[in-house]
Amino acid sequence: MLDHNTNTSVAAGKAGLGFGTSSSSSSSSSGGGGGGGGGGSGSGGASHSKESTGSSMYDQPELYDEVFGFRNFEAEVAFVRAAYSRHCKGRPLETALELGCGPARHATLLAKSGVRVWALDASAAMLDYARRLAGQAGADVTFVEGDMAGFGIEVRELLLLLLLLLLLLLGCKADTFCMSVPKPCWQMWRGLEGRLDLAMCLLGTFSHMTTNDQAAAAFASVAKHLRPGGVLLLELAHPGDLFDGTLMIGDEGGEMWEADSASQGGKLLIEWGAAGDDFNPATQVLRRTVSVCCMEGGEPGEQLHECVVPQRSFTLQELDLLGRLSGLKLAGAYGDLDLKVGLTHEDAYRLVVALVKQG
Ligand SMILES: C[S@@+](CC[C@H](N)C(=O)[O-])C[C@H]1O[C@@H](n2cnc3c(N)ncnc32)[C@H](O)[C@@H]1O
Repeated sequence: MLDHNTNTSVAAGKAGLGFGTSSSSSSSSSGGGGGGGGGGSGSGGASHSKESTGSSMYDQPELYDEVFGFRNFEAEVAFVRAAYSRHCKGRPLETALELGCGPARHATLLAKSGVRVWALDASAAMLDYARRLAGQAGADVTFVEGDMAGFGIEVRELLLLLLLLLLLLLGCKADTFCMSVPKPCWQMWRGLEGRLDLAMCLLGTFSHMTTNDQAAAAFASVAKHLRPGGVLLLELAHPGDLFDGTLMIGDEGGEMWEADSASQGGKLLIEWGAAGDDFNPATQVLRRTVSVCCMEGGEPGEQLHECVVPQRSFTLQELDLLGRLSGLKLAGAYGDLDLKVGLTHEDAYRLVVALVKQG
């Protein structure tokens, strides 16, 4: 199992697992990981003063895609299918919703394999980019802009609809009014209620649900749209770092890795976490500094991006409780996107859970 105290041997492609990687120790995966780590400067957890700063990388979707494009998406989608089959109670996978889809590479592959896919994201820029990629791949994905902390038919939309009906009944010319109302997704969400086979939230995206209210609302929305026996798959950071104190203590720096960049015509250096990143033990939220720069002559050059991302750590027990509160039963927990790797397996470095809708 990964040594969460030192985490010195992060394999290539396993470092920097997106907005949800749990390590805050130093390593570089450009050639297969390594780098020191641990130690503990005592810099984290003390002041909790870092605010979210900088523009979100999600508003630079091409950059995001290059930074996190190291993953084997085919293999990850194969895992999604295998996990669904293991927990689905025998129903074929026909419909799926990806929450926080980003460039929607998983959603696109699933759609290409014949699954009817909806993909939700809060970033309009990311959705535009994902739409373009799916179009180029010839995949039919329905993209929806929205907040995973409570999606579906909103009361506001129902009220607008009622008002519209009222206007029509009163014989008013409702055309102008209709034009000014934002196109509601209520019809789509209504059609999906109790029908979805699968909902998935990958690469630590669920760690954006930093409060219990958000997390509970997201679970409730998922539960409302899954069919009985439908599966929710979450990929999060391994809770080992939460329990072994790494997040609390902080250390000298974060993970680093390099990525090829077609847009920059060279390599990028990604720094994931920095000395002084604050972890608040009361909220379980880490404010992680993320920076990306160009490599110039083998050295870090122009900085392309820097921001501080708040990320909540979740434990397996919390996810179990969230599930129970919304009618989802914890059915499996894995330490990687691999059914053979359990949470306490020596190779475990993620928290991947499958929850099944009851009823
Ligand atoms: C770490 S990225 C993951 C993207 C994709 N799942 C992947 O594996 O590459 C997180 C995505 O979640 C989106 N996101 C963040 N908060 C969200 C929210 N509250 N509701 C919906 N999407 C959100 C971001 O815009 C971003 O595209």
